[in-house]
Amino acid sequence: MTPPLRALVFDAYGTLFDPFAVRTRAEELFPGNGVALSQLWRSKQLEYSWLRTMMGRYENFWKITEDALVFSCRMLKLSSDKHQQDQLMQAYLTLPAFPEVKPALEKLSYLPLSVLSNGTPEMLSPLVASNGMTDFFKHIFSVDALRMYKPRPEIYKHAVASLGVSNDEIGFVSSNYWDIAGATSFGFRTYWLNRGAGTGDELGFTPSAIFASLLELPRVLT
Ligand code: LAC
Repeated sequence: MTPPLRALVFDAYGTLFDPFAVRTRAEELFPGNGVALSQLWRSKQLEYSWLRTMMGRYENFWKITEDALVFSCRMLKLSSDKHQQDQLMQAYLTLPAFPEVKPALEKLSYLPLSVLSNGTPEMLSPLVASNGMTDFFKHIFSVDALRMYKPRPEIYKHAVASLGVSNDEIGFVSSNYWDIAGATSFGFRTYWLNRGAGTGDELGFTPSAIFASLLELPRVLT
């Protein structure tokens, strides 16, 4: 029999907070390139997280986010100076939450809620605070404590130790399918927030439920 859920853990970027919101600032700085820059920047940031984990060459998420930005500007042939890069990096500290996140968290807060993210504590605290969400979360777990990135199983395990409940009593929510696959492989019950009608990867691990808005999760859990 499936045990009741005793904790919920959320991915941050893309799940609670919108990393593509940087396109507004990017468009102001590089007219006509805001969307392309925000998309390439995000995909390179993730690629660097996986490559550095495989290479055993950890740099924190702030650094790889900066490196991904520099690469993306070079690739798109946008001549950017340090001041412009700093403005885009600062935008990362105040990314907006997706509109349905706060009302959904209010409905879900009968369970202990936590964040488990690639971001550093110095990135995650201001992000959660700027969205007025500090009181929702019991823990904000950062991979930085382990110097490796998701989807390494050690990262998911790190959260379990502090939550004090077993893997299958933890529900993990992410919009990133690769993160869902990693968390399912580890042993979490997983919930894929598929806002963009994306296609799940062929990695052999499937979530317990799929939905298009976080507001659907409270109903899925009852
Ligand atoms: C995070 C990445 C996956 O928040 O977006 O961990």
